[in-house]
Formats: sequence, C-alpha cells, structure tokens
Amino acid sequence: MSTKVPNCGWKVKFNHSFPEKRNQFFIPSFKILFNLFTLLIRYTLYMLWCYIRKKKPVMDYIKVVEPKQMYGVPLGGIGGGTIGRGFKGEFCRFQLKPGIYEYEIIDADQFIVTVQNTENVTVYQNVLSTNNSPCNGHLNSWKWNFPAENSSYTALYPRSWTEYFIPQCNIKLICRQISPIIPGNYKDSSFPGGVFVWTVMNFNSESLNVTITFTLKGYKKASRCEQFEIDQNKVKVAGMKIYNNIRSMKCTFAFGAKETIDVNVSETSFNPNGSGAVVWDQLYEKGSFNKQQCSTVQYFSEIACAVAAKTLITKNSSKDLEFVLMWHMPLIQFLNGQKTHERYYTTFFGNDNNAVEPMCHYALSNYQKWEEEIDNWQKPTLNDSSLPEWYKSAVFNELYFISDGGTIWIKIDDDEYKNFSSTDPRKKYGRFAYLEGHEYRMYNTYDVHFYASFALIDLWPQLQLSIQYEFRDTVTRADNSFRWILYNGYFGCRKELNCIPHDIGDPEEEPFLKINSYPVHKISDWKDLNLKFVLQCYRDFTYTNNKMYLIDMWPQVKLLMNTCLAWDTDNDGMIENSGFPDQTYDAWKMTGISAYCGGLWLAALCVTVKMASILQDNDTEKKFSDILENAKVTFNRKLWNGSYYDFDTGREINSKSIMADQLCGIWYLQACGITDEILPQENIKKSLYTVFEYNVKRFKNGESGAVNGMLPNGVIDKSSIQSQEVWTGVSYAIASHLIFQGMKEEGFQTAEGIYETVYNKIGSSFETPEALYEKNCIRSVGYMRPLSVWSIQIALKKLKND
Ligand SMILES: *[C@@H]1O[C@H](CO)[C@@H](O)[C@H](O)[C@H]1NC(C)=O
Ligand SMILES: *[C@@H]1O[C@H](CO)[C@@H](O)[C@H](O)[C@H]1NC(C)=O
Ligand SMILES: *[C@@H]1O[C@H](CO)[C@@H](O)[C@H](O)[C@H]1NC(C)=O
Ligand SMILES: *[C@@H]1O[C@H](CO)[C@@H](O)[C@H](O)[C@H]1NC(C)=O
Ligand SMILES: *[C@@H]1O[C@H](CO)[C@@H](O)[C@H](O)[C@H]1NC(C)=O
Ligand SMILES: *[C@@H]1O[C@H](CO)[C@@H](O)[C@H](O)[C@H]1NC(C)=O
Ligand SMILES: *[C@@H]1O[C@H](CO)[C@@H](O)[C@H](O)[C@H]1NC(C)=O
Ligand SMILES: *[C@@H]1O[C@H](CO)[C@@H](O)[C@H](O)[C@H]1NC(C)=O
Ligand SMILES: *[C@@H]1O[C@H](CO)[C@@H](O)[C@H](O)[C@H]1NC(C)=O
Ligand SMILES: *[C@@H]1O[C@H](CO)[C@@H](O)[C@H](O)[C@H]1NC(C)=O
Repeated sequence: MSTKVPNCGWKVKFNHSFPEKRNQFFIPSFKILFNLFTLLIRYTLYMLWCYIRKKKPVMDYIKVVEPKQMYGVPLGGIGGGTIGRGFKGEFCRFQLKPGIYEYEIIDADQFIVTVQNTENVTVYQNVLSTNNSPCNGHLNSWKWNFPAENSSYTALYPRSWTEYFIPQCNIKLICRQISPIIPGNYKDSSFPGGVFVWTVMNFNSESLNVTITFTLKGYKKASRCEQFEIDQNKVKVAGMKIYNNIRSMKCTFAFGAKETIDVNVSETSFNPNGSGAVVWDQLYEKGSFNKQQCSTVQYFSEIACAVAAKTLITKNSSKDLEFVLMWHMPLIQFLNGQKTHERYYTTFFGNDNNAVEPMCHYALSNYQKWEEEIDNWQKPTLNDSSLPEWYKSAVFNELYFISDGGTIWIKIDDDEYKNFSSTDPRKKYGRFAYLEGHEYRMYNTYDVHFYASFALIDLWPQLQLSIQYEFRDTVTRADNSFRWILYNGYFGCRKELNCIPHDIGDPEEEPFLKINSYPVHKISDWKDLNLKFVLQCYRDFTYTNNKMYLIDMWPQVKLLMNTCLAWDTDNDGMIENSGFPDQTYDAWKMTGISAYCGGLWLAALCVTVKMASILQDNDTEKKFSDILENAKVTFNRKLWNGSYYDFDTGREINSKSIMADQLCGIWYLQACGITDEILPQENIKKSLYTVFEYNVKRFKNGESGAVNGMLPNGVIDKSSIQSQEVWTGVSYAIASHLIFQGMKEEGFQTAEGIYETVYNKIGSSFETPEALYEKNCIRSVGYMRPLSVWSIQIALKKLKND
C-alpha cells in the first residue's frame, strides 16, 4: 500500500497565487435583461417574501458565495456532514446542519508542532498555519505565520498530503488526511469523520522529541467537553469530546490520538476567545499537557480542546502520529422539523451518544485498511501511463462532491420498512440525497443528477438505485399546494401527477415529503426530466444487471413515456418544446423540435423498446418501436444541417446555433453500450467534430472546455445567459462522448480545458462551479454536474475492453 506523497494529484505550494480571479457578478446584455425583466421582478419579490419569513431562498442571487481560491480535500465520509479544508490547512466551510453550508474559518482549529532537543529544551514551536495571528487578538500567545515557501499540498481525493519543511531544526512533517470514501464499501464510506496521520522525519544525527497538537473548537457556542480514553484490542485512543447542539440536534465532536509505547497523548481544554497561553506555555515547557487538568467536565461560554501526541524520534528516522476527528450527529431534522431521521452510519455504530468513543477507535484501528482499499481502487488509473496526469487529478478530485455536496444519507423508518417491497434497496442502503450545488439548495436535482449519476452507478450503485426508487415513488404523487411560477407569473401547483419532479426537496423545508422546491418554472412541462428517468432506469440496469429493478420501475416508465407522448402535437413522432426554457438549460429557451430534448426522446424511446423486450411487454414494445422509427426520420429531416443538428426548429437566429450538448441522448445510449443506429453514425461523428471545432477550439483557444452555444459563423451565441456559458459538467460529458466515439485526443483536450481552468487558472478547486464565462465570471460554486467526469472513466474503460 502506498502512503507516500503521490506524484499525481492536484499540487499547489502554499505561496502559490492563481493567475486569474473570478467573481459571480456577470452582467448580461441589455437585451437579455430586458427579456428577463418580469422574471427578475418576480424573483426579487420571491426573495423579499423569503426574507420577510426569515427563510433563505433556494437560490440566492443577491448574497452569492464568493469564490475563495483556498479549498483542498474536504474531510468526512458520505452523508454524515463534512468539514471543508483549505489547502493551507484551514478548517472552513462546514456542512453539519444537513444541506446547509457555513463559511467560517475557525482560528482555534489548528495543528501545532513542538520540537525539543536532548536537553528537553524547546527549539521550535509554531502553529502550522501560514495565517497571521487572528486580528481580534484571540490566541495571541501562539506563534503563527508559518513560512509558506516551504510547504506544499497534494490533493488526491479522498486523501491529501501536506508537507512542511522546517529548516531550523531539519525536520519534515507530512500530514496525510484520509476520509473513508471507498467504492462499494457502504459501511466505512458512511463514517462521519476521518484520520490525520502525521509522519515526522528527523534528519538530524541526534534524537528529538516532537509533539503534534491538534486543537479544535466546537460548533459555535459549545460549552461542555470531556476527556475520553478507550483501550481495546491493543489499540488505545485518548482524546476529547465536545458536546454541541446544532439547532436542536445533538452533535458530539470527538478527536484524539493513538497512544502507544512510543507515543504519549495528553489533553487540555482552553478558551478559544482567550490568549491560548494555557496550551502554548505547557507545550513549550514540556511538549505535553498536565493530565489532571481536564479529567472532569469543563464549562466555558465557548470551549476548545487540544490533544497532544508526543514521541521520541531517534536520529535520522521517522515516526507516525495518528489522529482522528469525528462528529457524531446521529439524529437529524430539516428546518421544518416534521420528521427525525437517523443517519445511515448508525446502522453500524448505533445512535447512542456514547458511540463516539468506539467510532474513534474504529477509525484508528481501520484506516490502514481504508487506505489499502482506496489504493486498490485508484492504482489502475494512477498507474496507467497512457493517461494524462491532469486527468488522474480531475477524475478523483471532482468526486469530492459525493461527500461535500450537502450530502445526507439516512435510514428509512419502520413504517416505510414494512411498506417497501423486498427488492427495494432503500431497506438496506437507506436514502441518499445531495444538493444541486452549495448555492442551489435543492436535493437530487434530477436533470443535473442525470449527468452526475455516473459516479454513483459506478462506485456506489446501490445509492443510485435508492435515488431511482425515490423518484419512482414521486411519479404518482401530486402536491396541490400553491405555487407562483416565477418565470411567467402564472399560478400552479407544486407537483402534478405522472411526471418526475425537479428535485426531492429543500433542506430548509422537509425533503422527501415536500418535493419540487424549484420555484422558477412549471416543472411538469419540462421536457427532459421524464426522459432522463427512463434513460437512467435502463443505464442502471445495464450496469447492475438487476432485473427486479427493471420490473419495479416499469409501470412508472410507461406512465412517463405516455405523458411525454402528449408533447408530440403533430404526430410526427417527435416531441416539441414549449418555447420557454423547459429543460436543464433553464434560461435558454427551445421552440419546436430541439436537438437536446429531441435527442433525449429518441434515446428514451430506444431504451423503452429494449426494456419492453426484456420484460416481454410486447404491446409496449411494438408501440414505441413504431414511434421510434417515425421519430428518427423526423429528427434527421428537421434538424440535420449537413454538419451538425440545429439547436431547434424555431425561427430565431439562435435556432441555427451549434449546441455543445446536442447529442446528449446519444451519449447516454453509448454509455449503455447500445450500438443500434438511432442516428446515422456519420452524422453523429460529424456533429461531434463540429462541436469540437466550433464550441471547443474556437472558444478561448480550445483551452476552456466547450461553450454551450456557438453560431455557425464562429461567434459565441449570446442570445441567452446560458448559451454563452461553458458548463463544466457538460464539457466533461462531451469529452466522454468524444472518447466513446474514438476521438480520445479531442475528448481529453475538451476536459483538460475545464480542469486546468478550474484548478490552476482560477483556483476554484473543490468548489467547481456550474458555469464559466468567457471572462471574469463564473456561476454557482460547488456544483453537482461536474461529477460527470466519471463518465470519462467509463468511456476509457470501454475503450480498453474493446
Ligand atoms: C523526551 O521526553 C521524555 C519525556 O519528557 C524525556 O524523558 C526524554 O529525555 C526526552 N528525550 C529527548 C531526546 O529529549
Ligand atoms: C527531560 O525531562 C524528563 C522529565 O520530563 C526527565 O526525566 C529527563 O531527565 C529530562 N532530560 C534532560 C536531559 O534534562
Ligand atoms: C525554506 O527552506 C530553505 C531550504 O530549503 C531555507 O533556506 C529557507 O530559509 C526556508 N525558508 C523559511 C522561511 O524557513
Ligand atoms: C469573545 O471575545 C469577543 C471580543 O474579542 C467578545 O465580543 C465575545 O463576546 C467573546 N465571546 C465569548 C463567548 O466570550
Ligand atoms: C511517555 O510516558 C512514559 C511514561 O509516563 C515516559 O516514560 C516516557 O518518557 C514518555 N515519552 C515521551 C516521549 O514523552
Ligand atoms: C540517514 O539514513 C540514510 C539511509 O537511511 C543514510 O544514507 C544517511 O547517511 C543517514 N544520515 C545520517 C546523518 O545519519
Ligand atoms: C503499475 O505499472 C507497472 C509498470 O508500468 C506494472 O509493472 C505494475 O504491475 C502496475 N501496477 C498495478 C497495480 O497496476
Ligand atoms: C404504508 O402503507 C399504508 C397502506 O398502503 C399507508 O396507509 C401508509 O401511509 C404507508 N406508510 C408509509 C410510511 O408509507
Ligand atoms: C411476446 O413475444 C414473445 C416472443 O417475441 C413471446 O414468446 C411471448 O409469448 C409474447 N408475450 C405475450 C404476452 O404475448
Ligand atoms: C445550415 O445552417 C446554415 C447556417 O445557418 C445555413 O446557411 C444552411 O442553409 C444550413 N444547411 C442546411 C442543409 O440546412
């Protein structure tokens, strides 16, 4: 197993400065603003209405999140909350309240190094932070400003390595952060926390005593802490627990270190609002804390704790100091508080408050096994010399959103357990939901999940199936509560029958019960959602070979396909768009037959026929294969332009636009291994080639992915906000399609543009935005869709097997 700093991954020096800084204040042209004027007014009223009721709008366009150029690999498994980390070591961007991000850098959350020579004299002591002493005067007895020039960072999610070189005493420290994100391992992947292993290398010809101290403040006003020690199966862990209430949910932070013959662990508590001298002076004096001081429960108005691990390192050798941090928040409620949910990890560790200690012990006893499993999973990719280095970073690091997407993973309750069929994966694997984005607070936004789901189906397929069962159940549900549709100002209801909702709910309401929290459009008229459900059903079947799943989805697949049939108003086999943005490009309107929705329709017809055939539903098979034959002809006749498919059959200038995502449906069929000729193979190749030539190569020198819309004269389609955007996740998807079609170079160039722009030019690592503009701006940081990078991995796998 490899624990060494890997050669690949995202590497950055602490004193790096990114060449470009972007913001979220894109100002569209006057014409666009004019067209959106009434929507803007209504959106403003909606936001006001939210503020009056002290609620946060699901998408806040006034208080946007400023991109920070600071993030590294977040800490934590899947669905138990996450703690973001800066690449320079900051503890920041907390997602502990389910689905809610709190952006705060906690000064008291640090590591401190103390080095003592053979005379017991402290020769070096510093906070391992390059930041200045906090400006409010807190913790001012600590020495800050660790020199940035001798520190560097390597991110390879779910692990990271931080290297600190300290020339004054000729030692090197490497902190390896490990979160248990392990494909197919549903138990460990749900663990709410992670491990830090500090490797201390002493290059001197004399022994040194080195102490690493982990300091941590509780969540906001935590007031009570307690020491703990657990000694089982030859592993002894000692540390501190901090008791918190987050809203009304109990959350216990526990952090500690492994104590061995060689490593002594001691703890203390301190006031994070004070000078910090209690911590600093004891460490300076003896490299450890006085044990007696904190064995009892302590009360402060605010509290922080410190755990010190001290070891003797003989000349020219190295040693590991192993720390764990976890947050035990077994029972959660969303803002409406209608229901209490148990987090999924309680299946294995229980929901008792005292479970923290065994959990810390579990982490420090098993992290080597975690690393081995991570290694086995990643090695074939990392070791593949035919793959470019940037790709190895992109494919693993973009996965951060699986855990850090406001993700929750909960158990179903006893009633549901009784009701659900024995084939329902939610019985064993629970419910899974992740946000559309850190800023777009809607769970499992389905039109986007369509792209992102490749990561789940390949790595945790049961979670993907769980999402599918959840959406299946919504098809026949209606919610007649009142909805003001902001796009056109019409009144409607929240969820209509026989269609797929936009999302599974807002964590500031009651997700799973109150679905469809997206207020902008009338969702039952969206043309892509139903088709995307049908396509995922078949895609998931081909990946899992689970026929029961197909049987369970089939009635709803038929219902949805019949709903869609009504959108073919002229009986030519093709569905038509409604002349408003009735699909995932929710500010880019399509009129008549569109390449995007039309292509999804062809693909959905194709897989419906296939599923009908597998299930021997002969009538359905016949019905939809007839429609498919008709639809194919119409699609080609109406949209084929000799070198690409027109955007739509509308009469506006942008109807001739070259849409980067025009073959989305065909891409999905490829990913399902379907080789039937739905569109002439030659046309597919030509279209992709045109997209590459126009949307990729003519946009920013081919170095920034694929712009959504490009006019045939090579000018960016600026007719709408979104036609001039590059969607990071769509570019990854197109790259995957290019690779499926044997255009590997072109695919890699497309994806590389996204990766290089996001990680190395604009510094948006671990907050990959939904959209990049040509200049200066981005939109919606921390977004779901870029998880589609995993479809490239799937395309490469297929290429290898062919
Ligand atoms: C390390 O610390 C221990 C305990 O404080 C002490 O006994 C020992 O002499 C120290 N060793 C060195 C090399 O300073
Ligand atoms: C270092 O301190 C320990 C106790 O903390 C003591 O036992 C040891 O003798 C000291 N060593 C020296 C060289 O002072
Ligand atoms: C960084 O390391 C180099 C040796 O590699 C050393 O000369 C320099 O002084 C160090 N910088 C700081 C600020 O410690
Ligand atoms: C922390 O200190 C600040 C002043 O620096 C003070 O305003 C604040 O009330 C203190 N908080 C607590 C919990 O003591
Ligand atoms: C650890 O503790 C033991 C027993 O208290 C002591 O003998 C030893 O010197 C300590 N080691 C360090 C490195 O502090
Ligand atoms: C340290 O160890 C390495 C090999 O492990 C050896 O080459 C080197 O000479 C040693 N240095 C000192 C100062 O002992
Ligand atoms: C890694 O690559 C080397 C040669 O390139 C090969 O010998 C080795 O078996 C590979 N390891 C794995 C785990 O694929
Ligand atoms: C379980 O099914 C019964 C009967 O269909 C229904 O009344 C009840 O609401 C269901 N409970 C849940 C939790 O779905
Ligand atoms: C459907 O067709 C298959 C062969 O194509 C046949 O074996 C089967 O009996 C048919 N099922 C029904 C219900 O007609
Ligand atoms: C393709 O689009 C171009 C640009 O709008 C147009 O001039 C041309 O007539 C179209 N070709 C076909 C075959 O429709």
